[in-house]
Amino acid sequence: MTDDPEAFAAGWAEAARSRVAAAKVGPQTRQIGRVEEVADGIAMISGLPEARLDELLAFADGRFGFAQVLEEDRVGCVLLDDLSGIEAGDVVSGTGDVVRVPVGEGLLGRVVDPLGRPLDGKGPIAAETRMPIERPAPAIVERDAVTRPVQTGILVLDTLFALGRGQRELIIGDRATGKTTVAIDAIISQTASDIISVYVAIGQKSASTRRAIEAIRAHGVPERTIVVVASPADAPGLQWIAPFAGFTMAEYFRDRGQHALVVLDDLSKHAATHREIALLTRQSPGREAYPGDVFYLHARLLERAAMLSAEMGGGSLTALPIAETDAGNLSAYIPTNLISITDGQIVLDSRLFNEGQKPAVDVGTSVSRVGGKTQAHALREAAETMRLDYAQFLELEMFTRFGGLSDQRVKARLTRGERIRAILSQRPYHPFRLVEEVALVTAVQAGLADALPAEKIGDLRQAIAGGIDRAAPEAVRQIEAEGTLDEAGHKALRDALAVMIGRSAPPPEADR
Ligand SMILES: Nc1ncnc2c1ncn2[C@@H]1O[C@H](COP(=O)(O)OP(=O)(O)O)[C@@H](O)[C@H]1O
Ligand SMILES: [Mg+2]
Repeated sequence: MTDDPEAFAAGWAEAARSRVAAAKVGPQTRQIGRVEEVADGIAMISGLPEARLDELLAFADGRFGFAQVLEEDRVGCVLLDDLSGIEAGDVVSGTGDVVRVPVGEGLLGRVVDPLGRPLDGKGPIAAETRMPIERPAPAIVERDAVTRPVQTGILVLDTLFALGRGQRELIIGDRATGKTTVAIDAIISQTASDIISVYVAIGQKSASTRRAIEAIRAHGVPERTIVVVASPADAPGLQWIAPFAGFTMAEYFRDRGQHALVVLDDLSKHAATHREIALLTRQSPGREAYPGDVFYLHARLLERAAMLSAEMGGGSLTALPIAETDAGNLSAYIPTNLISITDGQIVLDSRLFNEGQKPAVDVGTSVSRVGGKTQAHALREAAETMRLDYAQFLELEMFTRFGGLSDQRVKARLTRGERIRAILSQRPYHPFRLVEEVALVTAVQAGLADALPAEKIGDLRQAIAGGIDRAAPEAVRQIEAEGTLDEAGHKALRDALAVMIGRSAPPPEADR
């Protein structure tokens, strides 16, 4: 700065001249559309011939929607807010942008709506940046094989249907068969890992969403979890974008070399919203009245789950979409679509659930196509024959229900099978650690628990969970550090288990 007022004024004048020269003058054009009709969260708009698919459209009063259907002379706009007050004749303009959500560390520990607006009363979200909700899936060359596990802490999953990072595993079953609970358990289990979780509730009853949030707060690590809620009362547009928004929030971590797990609860509701929007915008209905693109909708969403290659940072995004069936019918339209899109499915069965087998995983129809390779060696070894033993037991049980067949070998199989079934049931929100899983499976598969009455297995579980670290410290160290056990480790573990079981088993004469 100078003290000379004249030079100072000249400087200002110069600056002003260059700004005037740089300013764009002349006519500015902006396309203005008008609402023709509005109902049920959809506005049909005319006068926006250049609107693009998914373009964010702004209403005069500051509310937004996005272009979902482009007709010759009209645009079908899905509103992201409730439509009260929007009327035919209202002015709408294109924004040239798509729907974006805030992303970043600032979302961790928060409960937000699908646009990233806080629902937890903890003040505004400190977002790093805003990213589009629709983003391309990583290309094949950017991906790597699924090689690292996701520990769900649910014994039946970790032993028989192991999950890998980057995998897409469908959780499917009738209502109230424990789908949400399985997914929340998987999130809670990440307390012991570096995985960041995103739970997306789409059109779920508030009681269910509330229970999920409370379980995460009480048993998980809320500060490494994001909860996205689109309630049934929200605009269909908001419910429609929810899973896409959840993926975008999780991709922020995937793309920085971190690891994320997304639960979509559930895509049946999402498909129903998609159908509702399609019918309201008069797209032609196909099978079960869903529009023809519902497969593409969920395929392009779930393709964004990936294990990235080292060049891309080595991050991962694992997806656990949930689907609800009707009377166990897996061959309905949406379930078959989702089964073919994902890398396997965990089938929850209402009959098992009502018999008290919880989690009610149907071992016969569930499958995990890529995660098996990622299973810790110690667990794979311990559980090697468990699946076969259990399947044979279920069959035998059905036969022997009608009496007869009391030969020694059959009895031994039944004994073993009952104990497998007993360790596979698990109460909610108490995921196991890997070492506990190895110990439990070893106890049963090495025959140590055969002498224990089946109803005592619960106590054994308690004893192992509470005491294995002290009873077999070297084996625990090996499993935790290397995921495998050497000869000495095996022996130490079996000896420790035999002592624990001896303590909880009744003395032989008490049996008589
Ligand atoms: N492993 C379990 N043990 C005991 N109760 C369970 C278990 N899993 C689920 N439940 C109970 O069953 C009910 C339905 O579970 P939920 O996960 O909400 O089912 P869905 O999501 O399939 O409708 C809930 O009350 C839940 O607490
Ligand atoms: Mg549920």
